[in-house]
Amino acid sequence: MLACTTNGVPVDDDVADMGRIELPDPREVGEHSVEELMAARRSVRSFTDEPLTHEQMGQLLWSGQGITEPAHGFRTAPSAGATYPMTLYLVSAEGAYRYDPEDHEMIPVRAGDRRMDLRRVALDQASISEAPVSIVAVADYARTTGRYGDRGVRFVHIEAGHIAQNIHLQAVAEGLGSVPIGAFDDDGVLEVLGLSDDLTPLYIIPVGHAAR
Ligand SMILES: Cc1cc2nc3c(=O)[nH]c(=O)nc-3n(C[C@H](O)[C@H](O)[C@H](O)COP(=O)(O)O)c2cc1C
Repeated sequence: MLACTTNGVPVDDDVADMGRIELPDPREVGEHSVEELMAARRSVRSFTDEPLTHEQMGQLLWSGQGITEPAHGFRTAPSAGATYPMTLYLVSAEGAYRYDPEDHEMIPVRAGDRRMDLRRVALDQASISEAPVSIVAVADYARTTGRYGDRGVRFVHIEAGHIAQNIHLQAVAEGLGSVPIGAFDDDGVLEVLGLSDDLTPLYIIPVGHAAR
């Protein structure tokens, strides 16, 4: 069944009509040294409305969770026991997507522009609705606690930091700005993404062209 909101933006029933987005192969060579990227990184909270290209989205998602050793499935960011408890979602004007590291694709999970909804459940932080995309890191603790018990919770939090920093530095390399956002209502974020409550969102990272 198809349904539309009053302004014509497609809603969930339309998610089946949204195709998977095959992302361009990630670039493994950049113009700047890692030292230059670290020195230049600063939280950016105000963005122009210029959209990101699929190439930029792919590069950002790859930096967070891309597979760099296919034989073992190892990724750009380290993970305790390679348990990989984190899934990245990308929220844009087109909809919300889950990043599939194996195929380097974005798989649609919600149709329509959810950025304003995401902003509302994150203390109304304007950076989220201004940015053309927000990447949301969502943890499945059980993947890591299943092997490490309670200490696995700590490991998952540490891993979120690795992933976020990769994304922030990749954003700088792309000439973009980003900010790590930890202040939000967990259940609200799950609802926006249509996810079950056995998952936990840990970070929202708006990314875009910095407003000057
Ligand atoms: C765990 C964590 C949570 C944060 N949450 C928010 C947030 O909700 N909103 C925000 O605007 N900035 C947030 N920040 C960004 C910090 O405010 C920012 O990193 C700090 O002011 C230092 O500035 P810099 O990132 O430019 O070095 C967070 C940073 C971290 C590490």
